Amino acid sequence: MLKFDFTTYMNYHVNIDSIQKQTIIESLKNNEMAGFFNNVINEESMTKIKTVAKQIRNNCDVFIVIGIGGSFMASYAIKNMFFSHIKKSTPEVIYLGTDLSSKYLLEVFDYIKDKDVVVNVISKSGTTLEINLIYNAIKEELQKKYSQEELRKRIIITTDIDKGKLREEANKEGYTSFVIPTDIGGRYSLMTPAHLLPLAVMNLDIDSLLEGYKLGLSQIDDAYHYASLRIELFKNKKYIENFSVYEPSLYYYTEWIKQLFGESEGKDGKGIFPVSTVNTRDLHSLGQFIQQGNNILFETVIEVLNTKDVKIGKQSLNNVNHLVREAVCVAHAKDNTPSIVISMDNIDMKNIGNLSAFLMLSAVFSSYLFEVNPFNQPGVETYKSEIKKRVQI
Ligand code: PA5
Repeated sequence: MLKFDFTTYMNYHVNIDSIQKQTIIESLKNNEMAGFFNNVINEESMTKIKTVAKQIRNNCDVFIVIGIGGSFMASYAIKNMFFSHIKKSTPEVIYLGTDLSSKYLLEVFDYIKDKDVVVNVISKSGTTLEINLIYNAIKEELQKKYSQEELRKRIIITTDIDKGKLREEANKEGYTSFVIPTDIGGRYSLMTPAHLLPLAVMNLDIDSLLEGYKLGLSQIDDAYHYASLRIELFKNKKYIENFSVYEPSLYYYTEWIKQLFGESEGKDGKGIFPVSTVNTRDLHSLGQFIQQGNNILFETVIEVLNTKDVKIGKQSLNNVNHLVREAVCVAHAKDNTPSIVISMDNIDMKNIGNLSAFLMLSAVFSSYLFEVNPFNQPGVETYKSEIKKRVQI
């Protein structure tokens, strides 16, 4: 369950214009890229994902996911909530494609030498340089130990329904493949096979994720309130939003949030610059600036109340964490760094689905309030085409 607190640590308030709100909701519904809202995944697709995930789990020690940006961040963020360098999934899941580091790739080659591997390459466009390059490298490596026929069982492609190199390859080689729907862009693609397949391979409960997601899509009023408050803060020269968490396993989720808001709003010279901190660690570094530095920041705190706890003497560790969060919000508010607080009772798949849908809606509403297109990323496209002029693969 999620709770939103838009008032306790906030001296800024919004008057919602109901006609503008209705117009914006209609714009969302009518947008051709609003599949994340209008066309939520159906049962048949969920069943296929779960069936293939089970086969993968029985067929490998290591599952390699190759993707970047919106084709990477959400499943990676959720993986990091439930698994760590101490607690690993079975099969182990390794991500590639987010950099061009030979050092890391060589480490992976060495690591998988004696292990059975299945690869899932994920790219909606099928043309992203990092993905095509690293995918080719992995394929060459796997060809050293698997016959073409065996390899065919070990490559899974997730891409557009009919466009791009990857779709061509999937059709030609007969690889198992999944579709990222045309009306869903990368950062809005949590409830597509791009993320659901890796999560299902980790044996995480994607049905609960979907249940929470649908709940989040119904929280239109709260999402619109949050978006409107963000814009009000921006008008009051709060140009940076710090997403602050007190649970380290949410760190990569704040990376996903940064991408969601940054790529959706940050265009035409507009937008709030998203950053993130993990507390209590960062109270001892960036906390000073956030509270008393250049006064251009506000915070959105994502708090986990937690039912599982550690008792230290008579103290509850969760309670101390909560009290520190409260104390920090009060101290920051005193220095005119206001906070919005989103609380969830636990880190579980339902709450994550709920929060993610809520944040997607908020990002869309904020973008419309800034009068920018939430669904494109013209800057990213420009740099991609500049790369293509320089590197041919
Ligand atoms: O959100 C987005 O649209 C981007 O971050 C893309 O997901 C990213 O650039 C990767 O694109 P693709 O899936 O086409 O390889």
